[in-house]
Amino acid sequence: MMDILKTKADMQAWSAAKKREGKTISFVPTMGYLHKGHVSLLEIGKPLSDELVLSIFVNPTQFAPNEDLDAYPSNIRNDLDLAQQAGVTAVFLPDKNEMYGPNYQTRVSLDHLPQYLCGRSRPVHFGGVATVVTKLFNIVMPDVAVFGKKDFQQLAIIRQMVKDLDFNIQIIGGEIIREEDGLAMSSRNAYLTPEQRTSAVCLSKAISLLKQRVAKGIRSVPDLVREMEAFILSFEHTRIDYIELCNPRTLEPVETVQAETLVALAVQVGKSRLIDNALIEAP
Ligand code: PAJ
Repeated sequence: MMDILKTKADMQAWSAAKKREGKTISFVPTMGYLHKGHVSLLEIGKPLSDELVLSIFVNPTQFAPNEDLDAYPSNIRNDLDLAQQAGVTAVFLPDKNEMYGPNYQTRVSLDHLPQYLCGRSRPVHFGGVATVVTKLFNIVMPDVAVFGKKDFQQLAIIRQMVKDLDFNIQIIGGEIIREEDGLAMSSRNAYLTPEQRTSAVCLSKAISLLKQRVAKGIRSVPDLVREMEAFILSFEHTRIDYIELCNPRTLEPVETVQAETLVALAVQVGKSRLIDNALIEAP
């Protein structure tokens, strides 16, 4: 039996009732158009608690005016089928007015982590994410929340926010789920034409190339990045937003590859802005 709740009051009442029964709650927040990456997070959350809540909400405050809010893909019926199969016990499905009333005025912001990587080309994005996730945590009141490492910076920001604001919620990171050729699954892959889909593999292939070079002993970040850039631009329809190697905890850029370094990149392929990342271990 899967409950579908459309108002904040109904969702809060549902969670409060479960808690009174002594039940624990796992939570997976999403913007819908679910794929195997989202399902993998549900599979992680399922055995950790008695209840499993999925939220589907395309959050307007994390999109800039020039971004793809209006075009964001949606297929609620398929999402609900996948949720049911994954053992979700409640779906929170609010609309925009329900989440942000007419006099809404509060935002959650972080001082440092949003300045790097995606935050540079998307300056309002992580404030919107931190704000909506705070609201969702207060509405769903979970014990455990699961986020994907595909959005590495988002996961780092949520962990920091949970620590700083004393949310009593355990945050778990799920591994990146990929298509057979290596492309990280994303709802935005739906925008790719067949030609662009062929080029989209350049992100994961560039990461593999980097790993090979690091294994050969190359440690200079400018040299490594130059090689990745040339490789990506050899694919059609690609425009690089950033390629960065950084400290995985602070997200500050590094000049030489350290024992543990994060590589993160964003590439525009046609209309889709695709991201990928990996931890690089330098022997
Ligand atoms: P969305 O892009 O729908 O992603 C929901 C969750 O699925 C995020 O935690 C994301 O990291 C994870 N995810 C996406 N693709 C994945 C993949 N290929 N492998 C593993 N996990 C993957 O991220 C958001 O929504 C929003 O910013 C949200 C947190 C819901 C706030 O609005």
